[in-house]
Formats: sequence, C-alpha cells, structure tokens
Amino acid sequence: MTTTQTTDTKIRLDAVRLEYVKEEGRSRHLAVESISLDIRDKEFLVVVGPSGCGKSTLISAIAGFLKPTGGHITMDGREITRPGADRGVVFQEYALLPWKRVIDNVALGLKFKGVPKAERYATARRFLAITNLADAEQKFPHELSGGMKQRAAVARTLANAPEVMLMDEPFAAVDAQTRMTLQEELVRVWEQARLTVLFVTHSVEEAVFLGDRVVVLTPGPGRIKSIVDVSIPRARRNWQEMNQDPEFIRLRDEVLVQVRGQPVAA
Ligand SMILES: Nc1ncnc2c1ncn2[C@@H]1O[C@H](COP(=O)(O)OP(=O)(O)OP(=O)(O)O)[C@@H](O)[C@H]1O
Ligand SMILES: [Mg+2]
Repeated sequence: MTTTQTTDTKIRLDAVRLEYVKEEGRSRHLAVESISLDIRDKEFLVVVGPSGCGKSTLISAIAGFLKPTGGHITMDGREITRPGADRGVVFQEYALLPWKRVIDNVALGLKFKGVPKAERYATARRFLAITNLADAEQKFPHELSGGMKQRAAVARTLANAPEVMLMDEPFAAVDAQTRMTLQEELVRVWEQARLTVLFVTHSVEEAVFLGDRVVVLTPGPGRIKSIVDVSIPRARRNWQEMNQDPEFIRLRDEVLVQVRGQPVAA
C-alpha cells in the first residue's frame, strides 16, 4: 500500500491493531488498538505507558517482526512487511555475542553486508568513539559494565546506518547514575547521527528528557491517550540543568498525570 503523506513523515501508523493468536487460533489477545500516528523524519519520539500496554508489541510491528491484524504501518510511504536494515533495534537485553570482541560485535552487521574488513573496522571505531567505548574495543562483553554493554549495542545498531532506530527500554537494566549518563549521551549521539528514533520506556522522566514528543498509551490494549510536545532546546538536555528547569518539571508532571490514569478524552 502507498499512502500520500508529507515528506516530513518517516513512519506512519494508520489505525494499527495488533493481536496475538493463542491456543492454536482458538483465542486472541488484543495488545494494541487503533493507533494512528506519524513519526516525523529525524524525530526523537518516545512512547511511554504502563507494563503490558503494548509498547514492545508496537516496536516489534514497526521492526517488521509482527504483522498488524488491522490497519497499516508504512515507512516512506511503503508498507512494512518484514525486518530490514533500514530499521535497527536496540533491546533491553544487550544481545552482544559473548565470544566476540566489542569491535567485532559492532562490525558484525557490516560483515553480513559484505563490507570490506578495513572499512567495517573504521566504521565500527567511529561509532565506538561516539559512544565513548574507544578504549574497550578489544574487550569481550563479559568484561564490560551494563552501561558499556548498552552503549556497545547502540554503537552496533548505528554502525549499520539505519534510517530509524527502535529502542525498547534500552536503559532499564542499568543503575540510576549510569542511566542518566546514557540518556545524556544518547541525546548527543542522536544529534550527530541524524536519524529517526522511536524510544519506548516506563519512565516519565526519561521520556521527557529524551523526546521531541512523548506519546502516552493507555493500559492494555494500548491506545494513544495523549501526545505531549517537549520543546526544551537540546543544548539544555543535561540532568544538571533539567533537574531545575521549570519547563521540564511542568512537562514531567503533565505526562505523569496522563500515565497515572485520568479518563481517556472522548
Ligand atoms: N507472544 C505473546 N503472546 C501472547 N500475548 C503476548 C505476547 N507478547 C505479549 N503479549 C501480551 O500483549 C500485551 C502487550 O505486551 P507488550 O510486551 O507489548 O507490553 P509492554 O508495554 O512492552 O510491557 P512492558 O512494559 O512490561 O515491557 C500484554 O498483555 C502481553 O501479555
Ligand atoms: Mg516491553
């Protein structure tokens, strides 16, 4: 299916419904319902919502792992039907290959693409530098901290030059201090890489800190409850400033009220 859309739209969700078929087709579980949303080109869009509201399901569908049972998902006007190198996914679990050194993990996707060795190592080193892992390139994943593993996973995804990076609670497993550093770094990396990011989280603070817009989903089945614009300049997106920024605090409280459960607007 091809849709007419503005050049500004990267991914369009049009009345998307996602169901899991259970008990060999005898029953279905509705995970996501009637989601219509345009994700803009080069936007940093965050989806926030309670556990089980369908965030991971939505990411899986945009990644092409799961087919909508209703509606359409398009990227650049073309229907998404399968996974593709144009969409990189970063999960909560780091998914690094334990027997490969960091640099080989980061260069792996390029190897699959047939990129010559010198070039793929140069690219991998560039993204290791951007993600502050230059000194760790010869280490194995078990020698890295949780935060370093997650940065390596981001570096590996970016090395494949995706147009869209889909991130499913990537920082959920790291400690609070590391998480703040990773959030600040991600803002910087995203500015350099100039790509579209869809980031899913439970954390309202994380959502407002990172996003250009924050989409709040209802408890499952997930529907869009509200969309909050965050127009805080990127230059101010560091925790030292954000912690005391009245605009950040106002938006965080606004999103928190939405997530906590007010009636859905008719
Ligand atoms: N493979 C599956 N088969 C059947 N039901 C599933 C499957 N995966 C998820 N579900 C159900 O679909 C709903 C949405 O799940 P999903 O994992 O997308 O939620 P989530 O918002 O990512 O939650 P969390 O914040 O806990 O990660 C839940 O009710 C879940 O139980
Ligand atoms: Mg999830």
